Amino acid sequence: MTERDDKPEEDYVLTPWEVKGSIDYEQLIKKFGTEKIDEELLSRIENIAGELHFMLRRGIFYSHRDMKWILDEYEKDNKFVLYTGRGPSGHTHVGHLMPWIFARWIQERFDVELYFQLTDDEKYLFNFDMELEDTHDFALENALDIIAIGFDPDKTHILIDTDDIDTLYPLALKAAKRINFSTVKAVFGFDNSTNVGGIFYTSIQSAPCFLPSELEDRKVPVVIPCGIDQDAHFRVTRDIAETLGYYKPALLHNKLAPSLDGSGKMSASIPNTTIFTTDTGDEVDRKIDEAITGGRISAKEQREKGGNPDICAVQNYRFYLFEEDDRRVAEIADRCRSGDLLCGECKGLLKDNIKSFLERHQKRREKAREQLQDFLFEN
Ligand code: TRP
Repeated sequence: MTERDDKPEEDYVLTPWEVKGSIDYEQLIKKFGTEKIDEELLSRIENIAGELHFMLRRGIFYSHRDMKWILDEYEKDNKFVLYTGRGPSGHTHVGHLMPWIFARWIQERFDVELYFQLTDDEKYLFNFDMELEDTHDFALENALDIIAIGFDPDKTHILIDTDDIDTLYPLALKAAKRINFSTVKAVFGFDNSTNVGGIFYTSIQSAPCFLPSELEDRKVPVVIPCGIDQDAHFRVTRDIAETLGYYKPALLHNKLAPSLDGSGKMSASIPNTTIFTTDTGDEVDRKIDEAITGGRISAKEQREKGGNPDICAVQNYRFYLFEEDDRRVAEIADRCRSGDLLCGECKGLLKDNIKSFLERHQKRREKAREQLQDFLFEN
């Protein structure tokens, strides 16, 4: 845990605030000391859930901490609570939806409560060009996307840090008292120029791990589905949880959704490389038209030699989010390799999937404005 996450000898960077380069996910398991989601764990999940979510089948959720224990407890009727979150630095893009869609599936299949943290404070502290008003406004906008995913209103509690600080602060303080500057310096690479809010922040992200136990007045197991980039915070949380009288939170890590330009992960700061949940059909068409593919320089050459779906952003989008049918994903890849399917037609198939997804999502998102109060945490 005392290693910096962005060791210079690797050709990628992965911290909660920066993701660059081509990430070696298997290596992260070793480096962070997590466990691979193996066949045995998958079949235990399948036994309880009755099916496997495509993100588990495809290894998109691929790493975990303590899930075996979580399932042992679940089988003894000791249910866990889910916790995940989002830093509201802008509108939601489709990559953000990945762990949320998965969390919804877990909520439904395991019949569990969910706490969802919107960290307007974090995004204010770490982005010098954003005001607190902006990040708070985006928190409310992002909440609409969360609700649109279809979480159970009776079992889902959205926390907005600056609105719910009275609930979070006593728990954050307990965490803060146990976390040294030297630890966060080592884990996140902070230095003397880091603002003190940033140094404190992991305490705030830890607080919801302890909240269910406080509310129920017993030790409650917590499972956090999240991008592997967030593991750093929870390594710190796990180190202090037991001294504070709580269980260590368990984790389910997903790989990050790649961007349309073929580089790293989808980033909200480079608008053309990702699709926002608020995009129009025309914007979807334009962005997919510009996406980097594994196609050849001419249709003739592609018919002869075939394309390469393994390096194609269009195929990636399908794999990560927009095609739940494994056979269909494989069939499209085969047709690409054989030269039968050209990029234009292939892009058209993806556009249709995205547009019908967004049409439905945007309707639910508008309806969510009326449901917001039912979802916001009340103490
Ligand atoms: N730090 C996260 C982000 O920038 C937001 C977050 C808060 C979070 N709590 C979480 C993410 C729990 C995953 C799980 O997006």
